[in-house]
Amino acid sequence: MASIIGMPSILRRYVVTRAFHLRAFSTAHPFRQGHENPLGLPRSGTPPNLAARMKRGLPEKRAIPNVKNIVAVSSAKGGVGKSTIAVNLALAAARQGVATGILDTDIYGPSIPTLLGLEGLEPELDPNNRLLPLTAYGLKAMSMGFLVPQDSPIAWRGLMVQKAMNQLMFEVSWPKLDLLVLDLPPGTGDVQLTIAQSLQLAGAIIVSTPQDLALRDAVRGVDFFKKTNVNIYGMVQNMSARKKCEQIGVNMLGDIPLHPQICEDADAGRPTVVANPDGAQAQAFHAIAEQLATKVRTNQGP
Ligand SMILES: Nc1ncnc2c1ncn2[C@@H]1O[C@H](COP(=O)(O)OP(=O)(O)OP(=O)(O)O)[C@@H](O)[C@H]1O
Ligand SMILES: [Mg+2]
Repeated sequence: MASIIGMPSILRRYVVTRAFHLRAFSTAHPFRQGHENPLGLPRSGTPPNLAARMKRGLPEKRAIPNVKNIVAVSSAKGGVGKSTIAVNLALAAARQGVATGILDTDIYGPSIPTLLGLEGLEPELDPNNRLLPLTAYGLKAMSMGFLVPQDSPIAWRGLMVQKAMNQLMFEVSWPKLDLLVLDLPPGTGDVQLTIAQSLQLAGAIIVSTPQDLALRDAVRGVDFFKKTNVNIYGMVQNMSARKKCEQIGVNMLGDIPLHPQICEDADAGRPTVVANPDGAQAQAFHAIAEQLATKVRTNQGP
């Protein structure tokens, strides 16, 4: 807890009043794998008793105040470009006139602060002690990365993860939003289950790369959302030329080319939709965001 002393005051207030009662702690040892299999599920395949496990002690699904449509960007495999796609789609949707926010639910490896050039900034609290989102390029954003020091990996287990997630989901003071994009951590574990069971999701977007392994993982991700009764909007194929995904019966939302500019823009904290709005890469994001915008405009919300 020594690192808390060195924290800026707003962060100290938040961590002490909130995380402290969660008995949250941080450690110098990376713990990234810890969340991937927290329920003791088999590493591959869908366990036959998943449905039974999910029914037990189900939290009630709640709406996020002021948010009409929640859309999760997900993949079972790590590093396929979820965060890059989530942030660019959110920015593209915002530019198409959809009031949009982004919530980074990757509490172990948040990347939205970096992607939006918001590293080191701290959210304010409103009079009710709810977190006020930060703004980048007109997009409202919240992330665990704003609340814990960078490079200080968090070692949270089941219940603590759930409580931290509850705070991110329900204790943020969003303005009126038509669309809240959730950037999910990789996998189909604790965080994903918490989200699917706690929130009324309007839909999920699965990100995949064309490699066989990633596609197999994509099928696992699709399966997860089907089992948790979440509407799957479709799949985005990242870093490839167009390929079919009919064989798994999922709508193809679009194809984001593998392009060094996307990576450079991400590293610079200016997502491609903002940095190079007229380029082919930005147009690829806009084409998908148009489909997303149509869906959220016709959906009445929870
Ligand atoms: N279409 C693309 N072209 C070039 N680089 C890309 C593209 N998409 C993503 N990248 C790069 O790939 C890397 C991984 O992307 P990103 O962090 O978005 O993946 P992720 O799925 O969110 O990862 P994690 O599972 O760790 O959350 C980043 O360096 C990003 O800039
Ligand atoms: Mg990510």
